[in-house]
Amino acid sequence: MSNVASFEASQKRSEQLTADIALHPENYTMLTGDRPTGRLHLGHYFGTLKERVRMQDAGITTRIVIADYQVITDRDTTDQIQDNVYNMVLDYLACGIDPEKTLIFTHSQVPALNQLMLPFLSLVTESELHRNPTVKAEMEASGHELTGLLLTYPIHQACDILFCKGNVVPVGKDQLPHIEITRQIARRFNNRYGQVFPEPEGILNETPEIPGLDGRKMSKSYGNSIMLSATEEETAKRIKKSPTDSTREVFYDKEERPGVSALLTTASLCTGRSEDEIAAEIGEAGSGALKAYVTESVNDYLRPIRTRRRELEGDLGYVKQVLREGNERANEIAEQTLSEVRSAMGMLY
Ligand code: TRP
Repeated sequence: MSNVASFEASQKRSEQLTADIALHPENYTMLTGDRPTGRLHLGHYFGTLKERVRMQDAGITTRIVIADYQVITDRDTTDQIQDNVYNMVLDYLACGIDPEKTLIFTHSQVPALNQLMLPFLSLVTESELHRNPTVKAEMEASGHELTGLLLTYPIHQACDILFCKGNVVPVGKDQLPHIEITRQIARRFNNRYGQVFPEPEGILNETPEIPGLDGRKMSKSYGNSIMLSATEEETAKRIKKSPTDSTREVFYDKEERPGVSALLTTASLCTGRSEDEIAAEIGEAGSGALKAYVTESVNDYLRPIRTRRRELEGDLGYVKQVLREGNERANEIAEQTLSEVRSAMGMLY
């Protein structure tokens, strides 16, 4: 299948799944995760966090991995990692992830999960690993040599998903190849050793790409993002400095006016109003007025999240407890799955 055709097929399947999940949430286990490389921003919020909270509250079993080992796929240091992990938990909790409902754990603390890597690696070939387009793109973007860990990271992700028998994974388009390899691993394992794993499916985000303040994808490395943890003043400064153009009238045109359009989309996401409606209201008042409107919309929207975050920042003991309990529970689940795996493989002594 061509890439376009397979993307359309994924999109269609994703819509069917979403409909079935709404009817039978109890049949689904969602797993997703993040690399702890920095604070979460508005792009993460609208791209995935909001949806995670929705799924959690809809009665789906929800699990989030903080993928600390993935940080060293393409960088040489783990300085900051502990701080990043705690801040990530703070961001989750502030956004409404409820540790009573959603399991939050760190990859490095769950040995039995990582042990799935060995049998799983035997189920993929070297050429399959090298063929993964996302791995190639990530290697090029990082400017780092291809490490063995980066080459095999889709297999790690398969371990993350399958250790808890996750059957739905909310993903961006670029992660679809990893879901495919996870499905292959599950299928090949089940065929070879007997049924243990589900074949998980990807659910495509409805808001696939959130623009950063310059119109490119919102990303920490582009310096175009609004952090959830930023203060209102920092947010105002960021927005003030964002690039616009010399046309006075405000209107939406993503191709010709990426800066103005990104600001309109940001305000639209935070207010629920359409870009055109906001643009029409501001009109000839120009980009200064637009920026003031965007600043207010973002700060109003994030205020309760930020207030909650500040409260939690004062209680690091609680954050650590959430992780400790999450890791404990993740270990129980992983041990159980690993024991099914050993038994399917006849490795019982
Ligand atoms: N690779 C994902 C990212 O960079 C994080 C991640 C780790 C993940 N394990 C996962 C996502 C399993 C989905 C499923 O953000």
